[in-house]
Amino acid sequence: MANQYDDLQASYGRCLRANGFIERFYEVFLASHPDIAPMFAKTDFRQQRLALRRGISIAISHADGMAMVRRGVDEMAQAHSRQGRTPVRPSLYAYWIDSLLAAVREKDPQATPALLERWRAAMSVTVGSFTAGY
Ligand code: HEM
Repeated sequence: MANQYDDLQASYGRCLRANGFIERFYEVFLASHPDIAPMFAKTDFRQQRLALRRGISIAISHADGMAMVRRGVDEMAQAHSRQGRTPVRPSLYAYWIDSLLAAVREKDPQATPALLERWRAAMSVTVGSFTAGY
């Protein structure tokens, strides 16, 4: 059976095949709010880009209701909770989503306003799980 968000998996594939998608995301994201860049002051971006690459894939599957990614979602939610390694206050997720959409718009040659709204809806599911566990 086709999954609801197969179009996002395909869009994500096009983004990753374009050059510098994750790099561009971080460029936009770090500049999107003054509190964000300082949070990444000590980050090894080579590792972080890989972690996010996987995280976005998990987020799409989670929005699609795939139970096998539950653990991955819980681990990311835990890392970003008040008690986690990297607490993220809920109001900052809007910048994450907007930055991701900006990077998709630039890098996916087939991006349309409707597709970007589907990205927003899907990523909001994972953000909802993170903020519920904050
Ligand atoms: C749905 C949105 C997000 C996803 C999927 C995500 C995913 C991840 C993942 C997979 C990691 C690596 C976790 C680990 O250390 O094991 C991470 C680390 C991190 N995230 Fe997020 N994140 C999201 C939103 C945010 C937001 C909104 C912020 C800040 C405003 C943020 C800041 C950070 C920081 C500072 C780290 C640690 C980097 C380091 O190790 O130095 N994240 N995130």
